[in-house]
Amino acid sequence: MARVNDHYLKLRAGYLFPEIARRVSSFSQENPEAANRLIRCGIGDVTEPLPLACREAMHAAVDDLGARSSFHGYGPEQGYPFLREAIAKGDFQDRGIPVSADEIFISDGSKCDTGNILEIFGPGNRIAITDPVYPVYVDTNVMAGNTGAARADGSFEGLVYMPCTPENGFVPSIPEAPADLIYLCYPNNPTGATATREQLRQWVDYARSHGAIILYDAAYEAYIVEPGIPRSIYEIEGARECAIEFRSFSKTSGFTGVRCAFTVIPRGLEARTAGGAAQPLHPLWLRRQTTKFNGASYIVQRGAAAVYTEAGREQVTTLIRHYLQNANLLRGACQARGWSVYGGVNAPYVWVRCPAGLDSWSFFDRMLRHLHVVVTPGAGFGAAGEGYFRISAFNSREKVEEVCRRLREEWE
Ligand code: MLT
Repeated sequence: MARVNDHYLKLRAGYLFPEIARRVSSFSQENPEAANRLIRCGIGDVTEPLPLACREAMHAAVDDLGARSSFHGYGPEQGYPFLREAIAKGDFQDRGIPVSADEIFISDGSKCDTGNILEIFGPGNRIAITDPVYPVYVDTNVMAGNTGAARADGSFEGLVYMPCTPENGFVPSIPEAPADLIYLCYPNNPTGATATREQLRQWVDYARSHGAIILYDAAYEAYIVEPGIPRSIYEIEGARECAIEFRSFSKTSGFTGVRCAFTVIPRGLEARTAGGAAQPLHPLWLRRQTTKFNGASYIVQRGAAAVYTEAGREQVTTLIRHYLQNANLLRGACQARGWSVYGGVNAPYVWVRCPAGLDSWSFFDRMLRHLHVVVTPGAGFGAAGEGYFRISAFNSREKVEEVCRRLREEWE
């Protein structure tokens, strides 16, 4: 009989967000009236219309496909040069960050890229993750066989957990246990925290001196509004020798349903072979992508490239400002209840301490049953997330104002 990948059996039955959706759906079936006033601030999924510049570019791209002379079949697996060049210039070179177009790999999502990247790393790497953490980093390492069994609190043996708390500003210090692959995400999902240049410099120094690789998820960099906060790990000297960066159009330009992202692998970035020789990672990822991926669609890549036009930039800025104002309102409403509030300033997520006596899932249930508002229980992001909840600012203004009103008037 064929064998399954037994590592999957170590995982909890469901991924966090489908599990929340399941609970919300069974509540809605039992309470159809409440379901009508349900407001979803759980999963970070955008709600506002796509920027006009992106829509126009995608319409034009559809028309390109309508004529033989401008038709596009299979594209380059690593993305069209027009998009890679626009990204290299707009996101990096114009900001003085040394990344070239051929170091950028276009994909259909950072969730996929952060999971798939493990394929180019061998067995036996010691994996360090923050706690709380975006669950994809953990679950994909479990699937890849990089962990031991699950513990009662949902954590996994074999992973190096780096607690993120209000005391350390949700930026971990260098762990005592050695680490080979280090996941960092700033602005952070779920806490909304940012990392300073000095904090990232310490990580880059650590990685360089220990031959470790930082997997830097910058999916929320566009939400940084305060000056001086690094938007890319490559702003830190030496990071090109020790870091891969993941970025996405999902939260920047409202592409969660359109699907476009990219991964940066600097040319000189190396890891070690089983025999101890230095091996560049860029050709391995290129080999992986050309073998297993046929590229993001031409239409989508045209839409993404429009983000770098003048009109696109303005529209994206407006969109981000909208979500950040939502975050500000949600922060205010939670603070007015006397709750301890973090994040939501340079990030679309607000991370809140549950009121006394409630754990994350009890708080989730109470918000669902009493206020008919969906949030994400902090415990879903790891053991250190227990006692917190995350509220997402991705919503219309009207709905966010209504959530704030319910928090003010209906919370008991
Ligand atoms: C989240 O809510 O954490 C995100 O939407 C998940 C994702 O980006 O995949």
